[in-house]
Amino acid sequence: MGRVIAIINQKGGVGKTTTTISLGAALAEKGMYTLLIDSDPQGALSIGLGLPAYDLEFTLHSILTDTRIPIAAVTHHVRPHLDIIPSNIDLAGAELQLVGMMGREFVMRDALANIRDKYNFVLIDCPPSLGLLTVNALVAADEILVPLQCEFLAMRGLDALIDVIARVQRRLNPNLKMLGIVPTMYNPRRTHARQVLDKVRASYPNKLLNVEIKESVRFAEAPQQHRTIFEIDKTNEGAEAYRKLAEVIINVEQPERQSQATTS
Ligand SMILES: Nc1ncnc2c1ncn2[C@@H]1O[C@H](COP(=O)(O)OP(=O)(O)O)[C@@H](O)[C@H]1O
Ligand SMILES: [Mg+2]
Repeated sequence: MGRVIAIINQKGGVGKTTTTISLGAALAEKGMYTLLIDSDPQGALSIGLGLPAYDLEFTLHSILTDTRIPIAAVTHHVRPHLDIIPSNIDLAGAELQLVGMMGREFVMRDALANIRDKYNFVLIDCPPSLGLLTVNALVAADEILVPLQCEFLAMRGLDALIDVIARVQRRLNPNLKMLGIVPTMYNPRRTHARQVLDKVRASYPNKLLNVEIKESVRFAEAPQQHRTIFEIDKTNEGAEAYRKLAEVIINVEQPERQSQATTS
């Protein structure tokens, strides 16, 4: 059964989308069938991989709001072993539409129920908020990966995030596991970046993954060219770091999982 991982942090600009694309590409490179889900109305994930997100008729929004739309209509095969369900600004309306639905927190989980088994990994790129779309991602997911920018301000939101995760675990998805926190935009020459990591390590023991994603201008260049970091510079340090992250994640031992019942 495929592992569904929500890539989440309510702060914008911390490396969620970059991590979703780069980790997805690294998993695909290792032969893992991977589906990326763009759950941010800004559509940066979709555009970064070269899809004309704003011209698409069928997107994630379609399958969340209309159960008759087949998942094949919204799934794009973009690279070997790598598929994506894109989004665009239409998704901004989904949050409001979801509010009125029965079982509103379970809509994404149900929409994905029939395809997760086709993949080894499903990565959900969350929007920068803790709203209903993010809660849907947390309910649909088995695991959470938190990209954390290595600066003091970034730490502030971490407690609020951990709190929401705990509430979802208690009430909606008891099987949800914290895969870990991955430091992004890390510059080891900056004392304060090292201090942030020490603090996270002390506050959340065993949660900080042993892979740092260093700061590199290549990460900003790649999506502008609609390419992954591996396609612009295969041996780049950043590419290597995401390969290592993929390996760490593949090797996390999995508990026996029961098949999920759907609410629809
Ligand atoms: N390791 C990194 N080093 C340098 N810049 C990065 C790195 N990771 C991401 N970026 C850049 O930082 C910006 C925000 O990253 P992004 O992945 O879009 O964050 P989010 O999805 O959390 O909003 C983008 O311009 C991206 O190219
Ligand atoms: Mg993003």
